[in-house]
Formats: sequence, structure tokens, C-alpha cells
Amino acid sequence: MQLTQNWQELNEASKAALIKRGRSRIEWAAREMPVLVSTGQRFAREQPFDGLRIVCCMHVTTETANLIQVLKAGGAKVCLVSSNPLSAQEDVTAALADLGVSVFAQTGTSQYYRNIHAALDHEPHITMDDGADLISTLHQERPNLISKVLGGTEETTSGVTRLQAMAAEDELGYPVIAVNDSQTKYLFDNRYGTGQSTLDGILRATNLLIAGKKVVVGGYGWGGRGLAARMRGMGANVVVIEVDPLRALEAVMDGYQVMPSMKAAQLGDLFAVSTGNTNVLDEQHFEVMKDGALLVNAGHFDVEINVRALQAMAVAVRRVRAWVDEYVLHDGRRIYLLCEGRLANLIISEGHPSAVMDLSFANQALGAEYIAKNYQHLKPAVHTLPFEIDREIASLKLHAMGIEIDSLTEQQQHYLTSWRAGT
Ligand code: NAI
Repeated sequence: MQLTQNWQELNEASKAALIKRGRSRIEWAAREMPVLVSTGQRFAREQPFDGLRIVCCMHVTTETANLIQVLKAGGAKVCLVSSNPLSAQEDVTAALADLGVSVFAQTGTSQYYRNIHAALDHEPHITMDDGADLISTLHQERPNLISKVLGGTEETTSGVTRLQAMAAEDELGYPVIAVNDSQTKYLFDNRYGTGQSTLDGILRATNLLIAGKKVVVGGYGWGGRGLAARMRGMGANVVVIEVDPLRALEAVMDGYQVMPSMKAAQLGDLFAVSTGNTNVLDEQHFEVMKDGALLVNAGHFDVEINVRALQAMAVAVRRVRAWVDEYVLHDGRRIYLLCEGRLANLIISEGHPSAVMDLSFANQALGAEYIAKNYQHLKPAVHTLPFEIDREIASLKLHAMGIEIDSLTEQQQHYLTSWRAGT
């Protein structure tokens, strides 16, 4: 088991304090995760994972710790590896390890794939991914493990994109549930989660006043919609850049300015991108940006901002605050980059609020259960969870929030399934 770098250097009292803090934060998150907690109570009775090994490649956060405990309650042997070289929370790692979970969360890019291989040594029956690095490593470098895997789940848009590419090339060796494609995932986590936690990360790192700033949002997908709405809520003038005419039109009708990226590059004080695509902000954009422009990535991989190009253009680079790097260009303009171009909300702030991760991780837990019960009938392809499960998660969440809604009357149900009656 490998903890974070500092672990070996800590004395016993510091280790105990770290474990205590991790436990307390994990319990705090659980208060906002009633759907996941009730799923865990059912799993404890029904033991859907009895005898199964689940390897999870996820961000090591307090919410993930609650998911891990739910899988354990269901009878699984669980191993967790961090899905990002920088995002693991040290106190959570320590608390989980103390609970007997194998955790591989040493930070740093050189260690990242070593951690994944160490986790794969546990020979999973179910893989649980956030970004598809576990599945892709397993298929490319450990193909002997494929036949032992019943199925997997995938958390995020970028991971699902990769899995679809694998399936299209006939390379996917087992069924995977695209958790991201449940409505109770992308409508809430990608939108409200990304919007709030990215803003939280920017504020913690910079203490910037958002009101009155020109904020350029890259991509008007679920993440981008959340970012734009929260930035506007804080008083920013929001500009959207898009490549999809439908999404661009929606942004226009939602009241944002929409324009090509080269034009927006000249106007923005703050750039926040969440597209799942590469080099959305590139050399030509840096060349025309204003002095002091701040760049933030909220997409899954560190490819959205071309950091290498920025490094090559800079005559000087220095860290000016925690997670804020200043790049001085040839003409003296300064560009600021958050978190080395990696997703800011999970590195500076704590990731999404627990209340949205409740929905995402209920999907993960139920996705794993669906695999355990149905793997024999599922093709090696990308699947979505049945709509009834999605709906059930929404009902449980509403119930936990104390919100009641109406149901259809018999007459209404009949009306909605008939075609004879018109005006
Ligand atoms: P989405 O598919 O709903 O939206 C992406 C949007 O970006 C699309 O509208 C697309 O047309 C646009 N786009 C693509 N290339 C572009 C370009 N060159 N310029 C401008 N727009 C472009 O995807 P979603 O769910 O919003 O996810 C986006 C990224 O955020 C993914 O990498 C996903 O994995 C990640 N993500 C990150 C989270 C976080 O915690 N930071 C949470 C959820 C998702």
C-alpha cells in the first residue's frame, strides 16, 4: 500500500491526526449523501459483491471514500488508485488505508502509472474508472487480466469518449456502464458540480473579484453551462466559445455573447475551459491575450490548454501563489495558469460538493451491482444504466430532501398513451 509522499516522514502523532481529520471529513460528506448511504445499507443486507474484487481509479476525495465503504459493505474487496497525479487528498488516503482499503495515491506524474499497475495487481472482477486510464492500461499493457473482468463502470465524459473509441475499434474486452450518461449524473455533477467547484478553486487560489470580469467559457456542454451560469451569478460578463452550432445557439439564447476563440482571446480576463478536447487555448490565443489573463482548466485531462506552447513562449516562469504560475512573454505580458493546466476544482478545492456526488456515486454503486448481476447478458460494449434506475435515484434524492411531487392520475396515464382524442 502506498500513501502520499509525506507519510513515511510523519511521526505517529501526526499520522493519527491525519487519519482523524480524514475520518471526520468523510463523515461530514456522508451527511450530504443520503442516496449512497441508503444504497450501502441495502448492500450490507444483500451482499451483491460477495467474493468480488473491485479496483477503482477515482479521485481520492471524501465522497469517493464513502463510495468505497458502500462497495465494501456489499461484500467487495476494494482497491483504490488515484485517477489524477495531483488530486489525492492526503487525510482521506490515510483514513481509508486505516480502514484496511488498499490505496495507491502517491502524487506526481512519474508515479501515476506505477500506481495503476500496482492496483491492477489485485486482478479486478470489476473496474471503476474516472477517465478510462485503468481500462486503457489494462487492455494495452495487462491484456491477460481481461478475461477475469466481468465488467466496468466509467464516471466522466472524457472517459466515455475513449471507451466509445475502443468499442468502435473492437478493442473493448468487457461491458462497461457509462455512468456519465445517466441523467442523474451529467445534469447535476457536470453542470452544478463543475460550475460551483471550479469557481471555488479559482477563488481559493486567487481571491479574484469575479464581478465585472470578462470571463471566457470554453465549451457550452454540461460543464460549460454550469461554469457560465455560476460566473454570471457572480457578476461576470460571460463570453462563450463553441464549435457546435446547436450548443452555440443555446448559449446565445441563454443570454451570453458567443464569438470565435481568437476574438474572445483578446477580451478575456479569465478563461475557463471544459470541452474534453485538446489545445482549445493555444499559442495563437496566448499571443493576443491581455496582460494578466488567467487560465483555468475544468476538463478532465490536462490537454485543453497547450501548456507546452505557453512554456516555449515564456521568457520567465515563476510560482506566485499556491497553484498559480506566472508566464512572462517576450513583450512583457503576463499570463497566469492555475494548477499546471490540470483540473482546478479537484486540485485546489475539494472537488464537487458531496450532494451532487451522492447522485454520481449512487450511479457508480448501482452500476457495479448491475454488472455483478447481469454481466452474462451484456456484450463487451458501452452501456447505459436502465432508465428506471436513473429515475429511482432521482426519487430517492427528492425523498431525502423532503420534497414531494405529484404522480399521474389514471386518466392522465391513459391520455399519454392514446392517440385518438385531439382538439
Ligand atoms: P460535453 O460533451 O457536454 O460538452 C463539451 C462541449 O465542448 C461540447 O459542446 C463541444 O462542442 C465543445 N467543444 C469541443 N471542442 C471545442 C473547442 N475546440 N472549442 C470550443 N468548444 C469545444 O462535455 P462535458 O460533460 O461538459 O465535459 C467536458 C469535460 O469536462 C470533459 O473532459 C469531462 O470529462 C470533464 N468533466 C470535468 C469535471 C470536473 O470535475 N472538472 C466534471 C464533469 C466533467
